[in-house]
Amino acid sequence: MARFLLVGNGAREHAIAEAVCKNPNAKLFAFVSANNPGIVGLAEKSGGQAQMGDIHSPSEVASFAKKHSVELAFPSPDAVLAAGVSDALLEEGIKCAAPTKEAARLEWDKAYCRQLLKDYKIPGSPKFGIFEDEKEAHSFIDSLGGQVAVKPAGLTGGKGVKVTGFQLKDSNEAKEYASELLRSKPSGLSSIVVEEKLDGEEFSLQAFSDGSRVYGMPMVQDHKRAYEGDVGPNTGGMGSYSDAGALLPFAKKAHYEQAIEIMQKTIEAFRKKTGERYVGVLYGGFMITAKGVRLIEFNSRFGDPEAMNVLSVLQSDLLSIFQQMADGKIRNAPEFESKATVCKYLVPEGYPGKPTANQPLSFDHARLKKSGAKVFFASVHEKEGVVYTQSSRSIALVGVADSISQAERMAEEACLAISGKVWHRKDIGTPALVQKRIAHLRQLGV
Ligand code: AMP
Ligand code: GLY
Repeated sequence: MARFLLVGNGAREHAIAEAVCKNPNAKLFAFVSANNPGIVGLAEKSGGQAQMGDIHSPSEVASFAKKHSVELAFPSPDAVLAAGVSDALLEEGIKCAAPTKEAARLEWDKAYCRQLLKDYKIPGSPKFGIFEDEKEAHSFIDSLGGQVAVKPAGLTGGKGVKVTGFQLKDSNEAKEYASELLRSKPSGLSSIVVEEKLDGEEFSLQAFSDGSRVYGMPMVQDHKRAYEGDVGPNTGGMGSYSDAGALLPFAKKAHYEQAIEIMQKTIEAFRKKTGERYVGVLYGGFMITAKGVRLIEFNSRFGDPEAMNVLSVLQSDLLSIFQQMADGKIRNAPEFESKATVCKYLVPEGYPGKPTANQPLSFDHARLKKSGAKVFFASVHEKEGVVYTQSSRSIALVGVADSISQAERMAEEACLAISGKVWHRKDIGTPALVQKRIAHLRQLGV
């Protein structure tokens, strides 16, 4: 038996747990901050155990791992990696398929990441500047005509980036936001990154990295804006889709290859700079622009919801991939079934601003089963057989089919089988929305 530790309790982690438990040798130990019924169920079924605790405490996680003689671990969420949970596990001699705190810096310090790409002449960055001084930031914003993205360097749960024309009205608001960030330091880091504003279509590319080579998964497109038609505040991601094969309908093979090249060069640069290997999942947020593929950011983990798309079609054994990554050599390129996927998130009423938590959900089990969609629990907890919402995204429903539109129908039908004080974006994965993406790039001349 392989005693495997998963740290985290979102829908992404439920999908990871499910994929790992497909291997009959896996015994799942889960360290969670809420009793996610999906993860708890899989842990018990596999002969392992789930335990609640502070997932951001390296010592608590390490002592749980030691107590259960865990052999291989996958700490999953960004803040857990930034807290140094992998390092604590490695110090105990436990193999780890996720990045150390230093390696996860590619995500938790955007200034470090941009500087690394610049120092090693890796293509793909927009024009950018790193600032600790207000006046310098303001004059850089002016030099870009006020068309910018302003970012705190550190982690802010995906909600700290503001872009002119979206969250920022004009150059003055961009400068005010830059000043506010430099004064209040909401991410805990003192610098900000200001970038030229890019126009194009975004895609997420996740890859398995053993420190020497990255192996790409299918491209996915996430939907960060809260409301239909891509308006409203940013969220953790309302849903996502992928197509049969590795590409999205608006992307070309060359875009995929450019993105992989940027990722491959980055893990090589990281190794040259630090002497350390980048072991784990590397996630690139990219944009296809008229000038080629540009890197928006790196994450040092699976995306949420993007993990649900790719893991739903992963054919290779995830436990073996994790073992090989932790051992420093992926022996065979992971394989994916050529199917489209659509993931839609049910979120609490009032999400993201004022979510109503602790609301019971009711399930039409027959209808849910008939939809054929997969169900991944996120920010919910179960008490006496009833599933209750918490304040973040509640449940992800994933359709897998030959085409995006078929997968969309499955996910939509599954959303309608769950009722309570929750809502979802109906437009994700619909033909109209996919066509809009294609038309957008055509209009830019891509
Ligand atoms: P990030 O947290 O860096 O992924 O940024 C969040 C979102 O802000 C991205 O998904 C993009 O939609 C947008 N964004 C970030 N950087 C830029 C940029 N340089 N130009 C245009 N939009 C951006
Ligand atoms: N879906 C965006 C993220 O995981 O950061």
